[in-house]
Amino acid sequence: MIDPKLDIILENEYTRQKMGIELIASENFTSSNVLTLLGSVFTNKYSEGLPGKRYYGGNKHIDELETLCIERALTAFHLDSNEWGVNVQPYSGSIANICVYLGLLEPHDRIMGLDLPSGGHLSHGFYVKNKKISKSSVMFESLPYTINETGYIDYDKLAEYVKVFQPKLLICGGSAYPRDLDYKRFREIADTIGCLLMGDIAHISGLVATQEANNPFEYCDIVTTTTHKTLRGPRSGMIFYKKEFESRINESVFPGVQGGPHNNKIAALCHQLYEVATPEFKEYIKNVKKNAQALANKLIELGYSISSNGTDNHIVLVNVRDKGVTGSKVEKVCELADISINKNAVYGDTSAMNPGGIRLGSSAMTTRLCVETHFTKIAEFIDETVKICLEIQKEKGVKLKDFLVDIEKNQSIIELRKKVNEFSKELYFPC
Ligand SMILES: Cc1ncc(COP(=O)(O)O)c(C=O)c1O
Repeated sequence: MIDPKLDIILENEYTRQKMGIELIASENFTSSNVLTLLGSVFTNKYSEGLPGKRYYGGNKHIDELETLCIERALTAFHLDSNEWGVNVQPYSGSIANICVYLGLLEPHDRIMGLDLPSGGHLSHGFYVKNKKISKSSVMFESLPYTINETGYIDYDKLAEYVKVFQPKLLICGGSAYPRDLDYKRFREIADTIGCLLMGDIAHISGLVATQEANNPFEYCDIVTTTTHKTLRGPRSGMIFYKKEFESRINESVFPGVQGGPHNNKIAALCHQLYEVATPEFKEYIKNVKKNAQALANKLIELGYSISSNGTDNHIVLVNVRDKGVTGSKVEKVCELADISINKNAVYGDTSAMNPGGIRLGSSAMTTRLCVETHFTKIAEFIDETVKICLEIQKEKGVKLKDFLVDIEKNQSIIELRKKVNEFSKELYFPC
């Protein structure tokens, strides 16, 4: 029997996921097969090293597992095994990135990634004025590049900065960038100074695998990814490398950074990569894109300003500052109404802690078989939360502290939560 207290927590989390609307762009609902493999006996085994080169005995079947997972990964991303290899052991996306930096760079070498408030990721060298936030900006010297007022990456400025800063590694990819990347342009810019190019496709790997996004493998030297976002697998990471970097990447993962691989995750990932290569998964990703577009279009119709005026992927970045509220307030009201979103910086924000936007993602609710009409409804729910924020502000003022007083008792939020629960309870849930 599971610890009864824990069992209650588990049940509550299950109900929260099932009864709510999940719009966090980095999340998804994985399948029951993936969950079964995560809870399998593969978790019991230590297997430091690579297939055929382990430090402990008893790895015959683990070798078969990891070899199959590698094969599945190369197949899912349409890669030629003479040109590309993959390490499937990274515990997560951030660790995969650290393994790349430590494998290919010397301490204090220079890196450039998309700035966090422009939609980049912490692990791409993020720091603020008086503080180095990510250790990637402590171990390496980082200069971020940015988007411009259109919401697109400012490639011209990037090209200028690259010439001045002379990074050893240029990183493309992010966590809140709704547009596809121009990898050819990134390569041309990297080639002006002869630096390495790494693509971090954590968010969009499902779109890349199904060829529903531009192909980073055509231009990058290294491609890292998480496996639990649009790819819909377990929480883990992968590093794809051009064959010339094979030993540096593999030795950086183990023994450089990690110890024993999490074989239960590798098994779950192996299964998911098998699913990713099916026509059904391609259909799923097409729907993810269609749904994000429907969400963006409805929000535009409702008078919202959307970063870059739309989306090429699963992400919709909404400016709520123009409506007179902050991302934090909308996030809070959404949470009380059982809608999960996150506050996010939008162009022009000066504070990442109190940003003027929210980030929405379509992958999780598409897994629950929502179609465009559902997403139109979801846009209306979001609009309702913004209107509730304005109502509360009118009554209590704009200070967040005052805004939050007795907010759980707000009748409009209680009514909205009922509607959200009605909407969600009827939807398919994968486990
Ligand atoms: C672009 C990008 N890279 C890396 C990561 C880190 O992944 P993890 O949370 O698995 O460490 C994320 C996670 O959000 C991400 O969006």
